[in-house]
Amino acid sequence: MSTPVVAVTGATGRLGGRVARRLSAAGVAQRLVVRDAARAPDLPGASVAVAEYGDGPAGRAALSGVGTLFMVSASESPDRAAEHRTFVDSAVAAGVERIVYISFYGASPDATFAHARLHWETEEYLRSTGLATVMLRDNLYLDFLPALMGEDGVIRGPAGDGRLSAVAQDDIADAAAAVLSDPARHDGKVYDLTGPEELTMTEVAAILTAHLGRQVRYVDETLEQAYASRAHYGAPQWEVDAWVSTYTAVAAGEMAGVSPDVADLAGHPATTLAELLARG
Ligand SMILES: NC(=O)c1ccc[n+]([C@@H]2O[C@H](COP(=O)([O-])OP(=O)(O)OC[C@H]3O[C@@H](n4cnc5c(N)ncnc54)[C@H](OP(=O)(O)O)[C@@H]3O)[C@@H](O)[C@H]2O)c1
Repeated sequence: MSTPVVAVTGATGRLGGRVARRLSAAGVAQRLVVRDAARAPDLPGASVAVAEYGDGPAGRAALSGVGTLFMVSASESPDRAAEHRTFVDSAVAAGVERIVYISFYGASPDATFAHARLHWETEEYLRSTGLATVMLRDNLYLDFLPALMGEDGVIRGPAGDGRLSAVAQDDIADAAAAVLSDPARHDGKVYDLTGPEELTMTEVAAILTAHLGRQVRYVDETLEQAYASRAHYGAPQWEVDAWVSTYTAVAAGEMAGVSPDVADLAGHPATTLAELLARG
Protein backbone atom coordinates (compact mmCIF):
# COMPACT_ATOMS: atom_id res chain seq x y z
CA MET A 1 0.00 0.00 0.00
CA SER A 2 1.26 3.52 -0.72
CA THR A 3 2.13 5.81 2.19
CA PRO A 4 -1.02 7.21 3.74
CA VAL A 5 -1.05 10.98 3.45
CA VAL A 6 -3.87 11.69 5.86
CA ALA A 7 -3.62 10.86 9.57
CA VAL A 8 -6.84 10.80 11.56
CA THR A 9 -6.88 11.01 15.35
CA GLY A 10 -9.78 10.18 17.65
CA ALA A 11 -10.93 7.30 15.40
CA THR A 12 -11.92 5.25 18.48
CA GLY A 13 -14.29 8.08 19.39
CA ARG A 14 -17.49 9.52 18.01
CA LEU A 15 -16.26 12.34 15.79
CA GLY A 16 -12.95 10.91 14.59
CA GLY A 17 -14.66 7.56 13.96
CA ARG A 18 -17.23 9.25 11.75
CA VAL A 19 -14.50 11.04 9.79
CA ALA A 20 -12.45 7.86 9.39
CA ARG A 21 -15.47 5.92 8.07
CA ARG A 22 -16.24 8.66 5.56
CA LEU A 23 -12.66 8.79 4.27
CA SER A 24 -12.56 5.02 3.99
CA ALA A 25 -15.82 4.97 2.04
CA ALA A 26 -14.40 7.66 -0.27
CA GLY A 27 -11.27 5.60 -0.90
CA VAL A 28 -8.92 8.02 0.86
CA ALA A 29 -5.89 6.20 2.31
CA GLN A 30 -5.48 7.10 5.97
CA ARG A 31 -3.48 6.31 9.06
CA LEU A 32 -5.51 6.06 12.23
CA VAL A 33 -3.49 7.42 15.16
CA VAL A 34 -5.04 5.88 18.26
CA ARG A 35 -4.13 5.27 21.90
CA ASP A 36 -5.09 1.60 21.80
CA ALA A 37 -4.63 -0.33 18.54
CA ALA A 38 -7.04 -3.04 19.72
CA ARG A 39 -9.89 -0.49 19.66
CA ALA A 40 -9.07 1.03 16.26
CA PRO A 41 -11.88 0.57 13.74
CA ASP A 42 -11.11 -1.96 11.03
CA LEU A 43 -11.55 0.05 7.84
CA PRO A 44 -10.54 -0.60 4.24
CA GLY A 45 -7.58 1.58 3.25
CA ALA A 46 -6.66 2.42 6.84
CA SER A 47 -3.47 1.55 8.70
CA VAL A 48 -3.01 2.04 12.44
CA ALA A 49 -0.33 3.76 14.53
CA VAL A 50 -0.31 4.21 18.28
CA ALA A 51 0.34 7.51 20.03
CA GLU A 52 -1.01 9.47 22.93
CA TYR A 53 -0.82 13.23 22.34
CA GLY A 54 1.42 13.76 25.35
CA ASP A 55 4.01 11.23 24.15
CA GLY A 56 6.33 13.18 21.84
CA PRO A 57 8.46 10.32 20.44
CA ALA A 58 5.40 8.12 19.81
CA GLY A 59 3.64 11.01 18.10
CA ARG A 60 6.61 11.70 15.88
CA ALA A 61 6.87 8.06 14.85
CA ALA A 62 3.13 7.76 14.27
CA LEU A 63 3.09 10.86 12.04
CA SER A 64 6.14 10.06 9.96
CA GLY A 65 5.28 10.27 6.25
CA VAL A 66 1.97 12.04 6.90
CA GLY A 67 1.07 15.08 4.82
CA THR A 68 -2.19 16.16 6.44
CA LEU A 69 -3.13 15.57 10.07
CA PHE A 70 -6.75 15.68 11.21
CA MET A 71 -6.52 16.48 14.91
CA VAL A 72 -9.48 15.96 17.20
CA SER A 73 -9.05 17.79 20.49
CA ALA A 74 -8.03 15.58 23.43
CA SER A 75 -10.42 14.61 26.18
CA GLU A 76 -10.86 17.38 28.73
CA SER A 77 -8.17 17.38 31.41
CA PRO A 78 -5.99 19.94 33.17
CA ASP A 79 -3.10 18.82 30.90
CA ARG A 80 -4.96 19.19 27.62
CA ALA A 81 -3.19 22.34 26.39
CA ALA A 82 0.23 20.79 27.05
CA GLU A 83 -0.81 17.54 25.35
CA HIS A 84 -1.92 19.49 22.31
CA ARG A 85 1.38 21.41 22.16
CA THR A 86 3.37 18.17 22.42
CA PHE A 87 1.37 16.56 19.62
CA VAL A 88 1.73 19.62 17.39
CA ASP A 89 5.48 19.57 18.08
CA SER A 90 5.49 15.89 17.06
CA ALA A 91 3.75 16.78 13.81
CA VAL A 92 6.30 19.49 13.05
CA ALA A 93 9.19 17.13 13.85
CA ALA A 94 7.66 14.42 11.64
CA GLY A 95 7.42 16.81 8.68
CA VAL A 96 3.63 17.07 8.52
CA GLU A 97 2.58 19.82 6.08
CA ARG A 98 -0.87 20.70 7.31
CA ILE A 99 -3.06 20.31 10.40
CA VAL A 100 -6.84 20.36 10.25
CA TYR A 101 -7.86 21.06 13.84
CA ILE A 102 -11.24 20.61 15.51
CA SER A 103 -11.49 23.85 17.44
CA PHE A 104 -14.49 25.52 19.05
CA TYR A 105 -16.96 28.15 17.89
CA GLY A 106 -15.94 31.63 19.00
CA ALA A 107 -12.48 30.47 20.12
CA SER A 108 -10.80 33.52 21.62
CA PRO A 109 -8.61 34.47 24.57
CA ASP A 110 -11.52 36.09 26.39
CA ALA A 111 -14.30 33.64 25.47
CA THR A 112 -16.77 32.95 28.27
CA PHE A 113 -16.70 29.18 27.64
CA ALA A 114 -13.55 27.83 29.29
CA HIS A 115 -12.84 25.30 26.53
CA ALA A 116 -13.14 27.98 23.84
CA ARG A 117 -10.14 29.72 25.49
CA LEU A 118 -8.20 26.43 25.45
CA HIS A 119 -8.99 25.96 21.77
CA TRP A 120 -7.80 29.50 21.05
CA GLU A 121 -4.52 28.69 22.79
CA THR A 122 -4.10 25.59 20.61
CA GLU A 123 -5.02 27.53 17.46
CA GLU A 124 -2.40 30.15 18.32
CA TYR A 125 0.19 27.44 18.90
CA LEU A 126 -0.68 25.87 15.55
CA ARG A 127 -0.36 29.21 13.77
CA SER A 128 3.04 29.79 15.42
CA THR A 129 4.44 26.63 13.78
CA GLY A 130 4.15 28.06 10.25
CA LEU A 131 2.41 24.86 9.07
CA ALA A 132 -0.65 25.20 6.90
CA THR A 133 -3.73 25.09 9.11
CA VAL A 134 -7.46 24.66 8.73
CA MET A 135 -9.59 25.41 11.78
CA LEU A 136 -12.97 23.73 12.07
CA ARG A 137 -14.66 25.62 14.87
CA ASP A 138 -17.66 23.57 15.86
CA ASN A 139 -20.46 24.76 18.10
CA LEU A 140 -21.74 22.48 20.88
CA TYR A 141 -22.62 19.01 19.64
CA LEU A 142 -26.31 18.77 18.82
CA ASP A 143 -26.03 15.08 19.69
CA PHE A 144 -25.24 16.02 23.31
CA LEU A 145 -28.22 18.31 23.92
CA PRO A 146 -30.47 15.51 25.25
CA ALA A 147 -27.77 14.80 27.86
CA LEU A 148 -28.20 18.31 29.28
CA MET A 149 -31.52 17.10 30.67
CA GLY A 150 -31.54 15.63 34.17
CA GLU A 151 -33.50 12.50 35.06
CA ASP A 152 -36.29 14.81 36.20
CA GLY A 153 -36.65 16.17 32.65
CA VAL A 154 -35.14 19.53 33.58
CA ILE A 155 -32.32 21.35 31.77
CA ARG A 156 -30.70 23.59 34.37
CA GLY A 157 -28.13 26.30 33.82
CA PRO A 158 -27.49 30.02 33.65
CA ALA A 159 -28.17 30.38 29.91
CA GLY A 160 -30.99 32.92 30.25
CA ASP A 161 -32.67 33.59 26.92
CA GLY A 162 -29.41 33.14 25.01
CA ARG A 163 -29.31 31.10 21.82
CA LEU A 164 -27.00 28.34 20.60
CA SER A 165 -26.51 26.93 17.13
CA ALA A 166 -25.47 23.39 18.07
CA VAL A 167 -24.20 21.21 15.22
CA ALA A 168 -24.60 17.50 14.50
CA GLN A 169 -21.47 15.36 14.64
CA ASP A 170 -22.46 13.79 11.31
CA ASP A 171 -22.44 17.27 9.75
CA ILE A 172 -19.03 18.10 11.26
CA ALA A 173 -17.73 14.80 9.90
CA ASP A 174 -19.16 15.49 6.44
CA ALA A 175 -17.49 18.92 6.45
CA ALA A 176 -14.20 17.52 7.73
CA ALA A 177 -14.17 14.70 5.18
CA ALA A 178 -14.74 17.24 2.40
CA VAL A 179 -11.78 19.30 3.64
CA LEU A 180 -9.56 16.23 4.00
CA SER A 181 -10.39 15.01 0.50
CA ASP A 182 -8.88 18.17 -1.01
CA PRO A 183 -7.03 19.81 1.89
CA ALA A 184 -4.71 22.30 0.16
CA ARG A 185 -7.75 24.19 -1.14
CA HIS A 186 -8.65 25.07 2.45
CA ASP A 187 -5.26 26.16 3.77
CA GLY A 188 -5.52 29.14 6.11
CA LYS A 189 -9.30 28.88 6.39
CA VAL A 190 -11.28 29.13 9.61
CA TYR A 191 -14.72 27.56 9.31
CA ASP A 192 -17.63 28.00 11.72
CA LEU A 193 -19.57 24.76 11.93
CA THR A 194 -23.05 25.37 13.28
CA GLY A 195 -26.50 23.95 12.99
CA PRO A 196 -29.14 25.61 10.78
CA GLU A 197 -31.02 27.21 13.69
CA GLU A 198 -30.29 29.15 16.88
CA LEU A 199 -32.29 27.82 19.79
CA THR A 200 -32.88 29.05 23.32
CA MET A 201 -32.76 26.39 26.03
CA THR A 202 -36.54 26.81 26.34
CA GLU A 203 -36.87 25.93 22.64
CA VAL A 204 -34.50 22.96 23.06
CA ALA A 205 -36.73 21.74 25.91
CA ALA A 206 -39.86 22.14 23.74
CA ILE A 207 -38.31 20.10 20.90
CA LEU A 208 -37.26 17.38 23.35
CA THR A 209 -40.78 17.42 24.83
CA ALA A 210 -42.32 16.88 21.39
CA HIS A 211 -39.89 14.07 20.60
CA LEU A 212 -40.03 12.23 23.92
CA GLY A 213 -43.73 12.73 24.54
CA ARG A 214 -43.05 13.84 28.11
CA GLN A 215 -42.52 17.24 29.63
CA VAL A 216 -38.99 18.66 29.42
CA ARG A 217 -38.42 22.09 31.00
CA TYR A 218 -35.63 24.61 31.07
CA VAL A 219 -34.91 26.22 34.42
CA ASP A 220 -32.68 29.28 34.34
CA GLU A 221 -30.21 29.23 37.22
CA THR A 222 -28.13 31.92 38.86
CA LEU A 223 -24.39 31.27 38.89
CA GLU A 224 -24.59 30.27 42.54
CA GLN A 225 -27.44 27.83 41.84
CA ALA A 226 -25.50 26.36 38.91
CA TYR A 227 -22.47 25.56 41.05
CA ALA A 228 -24.67 24.26 43.87
CA SER A 229 -26.73 21.96 41.62
CA ARG A 230 -23.54 20.41 40.21
CA ALA A 231 -21.72 20.02 43.54
CA HIS A 232 -22.92 16.44 44.08
CA TYR A 233 -20.81 15.24 41.12
CA GLY A 234 -17.66 15.97 43.14
CA ALA A 235 -15.94 17.07 39.92
CA PRO A 236 -12.77 19.18 39.98
CA GLN A 237 -13.20 22.96 39.87
CA TRP A 238 -11.89 23.34 36.29
CA GLU A 239 -14.46 20.84 35.05
CA VAL A 240 -17.39 22.45 36.86
CA ASP A 241 -16.23 25.85 35.59
CA ALA A 242 -16.33 24.43 32.05
CA TRP A 243 -19.82 22.95 32.52
CA VAL A 244 -21.23 26.17 33.95
CA SER A 245 -19.51 28.38 31.40
CA THR A 246 -21.22 26.41 28.60
CA TYR A 247 -24.42 28.07 29.81
CA THR A 248 -23.00 31.51 30.60
CA ALA A 249 -21.49 31.58 27.10
CA VAL A 250 -24.98 30.91 25.68
CA ALA A 251 -26.38 33.70 27.89
CA ALA A 252 -23.65 36.04 26.59
CA GLY A 253 -24.63 35.30 22.98
CA GLU A 254 -21.31 33.60 22.22
CA MET A 255 -22.89 30.33 20.99
CA ALA A 256 -25.40 32.12 18.73
CA GLY A 257 -25.23 32.73 14.99
CA VAL A 258 -25.81 30.46 12.01
CA SER A 259 -22.98 29.92 9.56
CA PRO A 260 -23.30 28.63 5.96
CA ASP A 261 -20.04 26.67 6.29
CA VAL A 262 -21.53 23.20 6.96
CA ALA A 263 -23.79 23.44 3.92
CA ASP A 264 -21.00 24.87 1.76
CA LEU A 265 -18.47 22.19 2.74
CA ALA A 266 -20.77 19.19 3.15
CA GLY A 267 -22.99 19.98 0.18
CA HIS A 268 -26.21 19.54 2.15
CA PRO A 269 -28.09 21.60 4.73
CA ALA A 270 -27.09 21.27 8.36
CA THR A 271 -29.30 19.08 10.54
CA THR A 272 -31.94 20.49 12.90
CA LEU A 273 -32.45 19.13 16.42
CA ALA A 274 -35.84 17.69 15.45
CA GLU A 275 -34.29 15.91 12.46
CA LEU A 276 -31.46 14.48 14.55
CA LEU A 277 -33.88 13.17 17.19
CA ALA A 278 -36.12 11.66 14.53
CA ARG A 279 -33.16 9.74 13.11
CA GLY A 280 -32.89 7.97 16.48
N1 LIG B 1 -18.30 20.59 20.81
C1 LIG B 1 -18.74 19.88 21.84
O1 LIG B 1 -19.92 19.97 22.23
C2 LIG B 1 -17.84 18.92 22.55
C3 LIG B 1 -18.38 18.15 23.59
C4 LIG B 1 -17.56 17.23 24.20
C5 LIG B 1 -16.25 17.08 23.79
N2 LIG B 1 -15.75 17.85 22.80
C6 LIG B 1 -14.36 17.72 22.32
O2 LIG B 1 -14.42 17.07 21.05
C7 LIG B 1 -13.57 15.93 21.04
C8 LIG B 1 -14.17 14.85 20.16
O3 LIG B 1 -15.48 14.55 20.61
P1 LIG B 1 -15.99 13.06 20.58
O4 LIG B 1 -17.45 13.10 20.86
O5 LIG B 1 -15.51 12.35 19.36
O6 LIG B 1 -15.23 12.47 21.85
P2 LIG B 1 -14.92 10.93 22.17
O7 LIG B 1 -15.94 10.04 21.57
O8 LIG B 1 -14.67 10.88 23.64
O9 LIG B 1 -13.55 10.66 21.40
C9 LIG B 1 -12.35 11.30 21.74
C10 LIG B 1 -11.27 10.64 20.93
O10 LIG B 1 -10.03 11.32 21.15
C11 LIG B 1 -9.06 10.38 21.61
N3 LIG B 1 -8.21 11.06 22.58
C12 LIG B 1 -8.65 11.72 23.67
N4 LIG B 1 -7.59 12.21 24.35
C13 LIG B 1 -6.49 11.83 23.67
C14 LIG B 1 -5.11 12.01 23.89
N5 LIG B 1 -4.65 12.68 24.97
N6 LIG B 1 -4.23 11.49 23.00
C15 LIG B 1 -4.69 10.80 21.92
N7 LIG B 1 -6.00 10.58 21.65
C16 LIG B 1 -6.88 11.10 22.54
C17 LIG B 1 -9.86 9.28 22.26
O11 LIG B 1 -9.10 8.10 22.33
P3 LIG B 1 -9.50 6.92 23.38
O12 LIG B 1 -10.59 6.13 22.71
O13 LIG B 1 -8.25 6.15 23.55
O14 LIG B 1 -9.98 7.57 24.64
C18 LIG B 1 -11.05 9.18 21.30
O15 LIG B 1 -10.72 8.47 20.13
C19 LIG B 1 -13.43 15.53 22.51
O16 LIG B 1 -12.21 14.84 22.71
C20 LIG B 1 -13.47 16.88 23.21
O17 LIG B 1 -12.18 17.49 23.20
C21 LIG B 1 -16.53 18.77 22.16
